[in-house]
Amino acid sequence: MVRAKCWTLKKHFKGPPTKSDFEIKEVELPALKNGEVLLEALFLSVDPYMRVSVRKYLKEGDTIMGSQVARVVESKNPTFPVGSTVVANSGWTTHSISDGKNLEKLPAGWPDTLPLSLALGTIGMTGLTAYFGLLDICALKEGETVMVNAASGAVGSVVGQIAKIKGCRVVGSAGSDEKVAMLEKLGFDYAFNYKKVGSLEETLKKASPNGYDCYFDNVGGAFTNAVIPQMNKYGRIAVCGAISTYNSEEPQQGIYIQAPFIYQELRMEGFIVHRWQGDIRQKGLTDLMKWVQEGKIKYQEHISEGFENMPTAFIGMLNGENVGKTLVKA
Ligand SMILES: NC(=O)c1ccc[n+]([C@@H]2O[C@H](COP(=O)([O-])OP(=O)(O)OC[C@H]3O[C@@H](n4cnc5c(N)ncnc54)[C@H](OP(=O)(O)O)[C@@H]3O)[C@@H](O)[C@H]2O)c1
Repeated sequence: MVRAKCWTLKKHFKGPPTKSDFEIKEVELPALKNGEVLLEALFLSVDPYMRVSVRKYLKEGDTIMGSQVARVVESKNPTFPVGSTVVANSGWTTHSISDGKNLEKLPAGWPDTLPLSLALGTIGMTGLTAYFGLLDICALKEGETVMVNAASGAVGSVVGQIAKIKGCRVVGSAGSDEKVAMLEKLGFDYAFNYKKVGSLEETLKKASPNGYDCYFDNVGGAFTNAVIPQMNKYGRIAVCGAISTYNSEEPQQGIYIQAPFIYQELRMEGFIVHRWQGDIRQKGLTDLMKWVQEGKIKYQEHISEGFENMPTAFIGMLNGENVGKTLVKA
């Protein structure tokens, strides 16, 4: 018998999550049935969507949702022998049982030199979000100018680097001077600390006097109000996230967007990364893996040690303590 530790929702979040909203529990897992595997978490993902999905899908007492890189430690499923590594949607838990249906193997050709944790970040969900959001939703073209916010994070840092690979000019914003310095190192053409600028509108104008062709929006709210009027003719906006609004209990006020949308002939589309499945998803993973190996994408990870620290890592990420993908090493 294996005892699994799980982080559960003790109390629904009111505003920013606090540690007392979470409770750790132990459960005894049953013996495996035919077709099942026992998984042990190696790395667990901490993501902004959890702030929203907890409110939407969980009741108090439920285990927090989330993906992890896990090792198969016992197997009654020949597709996943003992010792194989998988990406699993097991939630915030140290051990879990799966029937194999929702397990994903690492992309073919994964080299031993790459950390397994990348399968949750740059060569996983957040890398694919950047890839499809920019290449498909924004339909980025060489020579265009891209604006991305939360640019030093898991998604944003990859957005900026893909934009450079595709021969574009990229402007990024982040919440500290250290993060801005990192963006400059990654090759962003212009980076600024949005917490320090007097006028966001003026800063955006200075960063790109000729406006923006693509806007990869991770932040939403007031930031987006400032970007939309600076979009160029036929500009495209990928609505990836709205992290500035996730903790708020009140409905948000925005600008009327019709005039810039009509006269600049803009297109704005929300998306969820799981839209791209099958071969197209595999191509995305293969491209990301190749770019990482070629050094064209530098990966950033913010790893906390210890399963006990899941809530702290989550709260820290929402507060902007992370650079790159936030993970917990079990
Ligand atoms: N649509 C999809 O399928 C999909 C998939 C993955 C992620 N997302 C979304 O993409 C966005 C980025 O996700 P991620 O995983 O890459 O997270 P992340 O950027 O690694 O971490 C979150 C970052 O958001 C920034 N932030 C927090 N509050 C903010 C505020 N009020 N204003 C501006 N920035 C704020 C913080 O950085 P600063 O220090 O810069 O403030 C923090 O580090 C999120 O909105 C997420 O929900 C969407």
